[in-house]
Amino acid sequence: MTGETVEDLEIQLLLDALYRHYHYDFRHYAQASIKRRLLQARRQLGFDSISALQSAVLHDKTMLPNLLNYLTVQVSEMFRDPSYYRALREKVVPHLHTYPSLKVWIAGCSRGEELYSLAILFREEGLLDKTIFYATDINPAALKAAQAGIYPLDQVRLFTENHRLSGGHSSLSDYYTADYGRAVFDKSLRARTVFSDHSLVTDAAFAEMHLISCRNVLIYFDRDLQDRVVSLFAESLARQGFLGIGSKESLRFSAHADKFVEHVREDRIYRRVAR
Ligand SMILES: C[S@@+](CC[C@H](N)C(=O)[O-])C[C@H]1O[C@@H](n2cnc3c(N)ncnc32)[C@H](O)[C@@H]1O
Repeated sequence: MTGETVEDLEIQLLLDALYRHYHYDFRHYAQASIKRRLLQARRQLGFDSISALQSAVLHDKTMLPNLLNYLTVQVSEMFRDPSYYRALREKVVPHLHTYPSLKVWIAGCSRGEELYSLAILFREEGLLDKTIFYATDINPAALKAAQAGIYPLDQVRLFTENHRLSGGHSSLSDYYTADYGRAVFDKSLRARTVFSDHSLVTDAAFAEMHLISCRNVLIYFDRDLQDRVVSLFAESLARQGFLGIGSKESLRFSAHADKFVEHVREDRIYRRVAR
């Protein structure tokens, strides 16, 4: 007998099944949090065991979106950690002004809060019209919400304060219309955005990005997977391109740390060293 419980075994089998049948690869996510979320899914979706949940997901593909909502954490907010956006304005934007056109990748964009924050910042800094944004995620429901750009008005109070703290030049209300308790963000903010289903685990690099913003995603991956993703970012960046990650994340222990230098240490903004 090994120390593995039947439940641990069932979880590994479910993750293998998701990969082999649907090509969703959660096998190298941080195991403790995957386990916690699968047990929550089992309980709330009404199954007696993880095996029963696995069987339902394999035989009924309409179950898959339900399960993805548990396996992918959709917590986000606009201008989250305002000092990150302030650092972009003050220490990255001046470099971005020197390029004739720009490509920005928001990896793990969730419901679009990070995309709209960057689009507003780029408009305020006079960069939006020369930029193409790539907003990617593995959760189709989140991507659809990102394309709609509609958020509950009660969240917008926090977004407004974050925007102000980030050094916003105008009022956030200039960028949305209020409608039945919702804030509908201006379509022009996403006019130059390509939305795409893309997995950092299984899919290839995006070429020649000037900025990659991937915040609060690496934290869910184990060390090997974090290394793979950091290498993917290094491959995807143009010479001297910028990478921003979450406030609880760091490249310091990455196998690919030597491909980057710290640009703004306290806000986790790195720069690809010249190749
Ligand atoms: C906690 S949210 C972060 C949202 C936003 N970046 C932020 O910082 O507010 C994590 C996002 O990563 C996405 N995600 C998880 N695994 C992924 C993968 N393999 N490839 C791309 N996105 C992934 C989830 O679907 C979710 O939208």
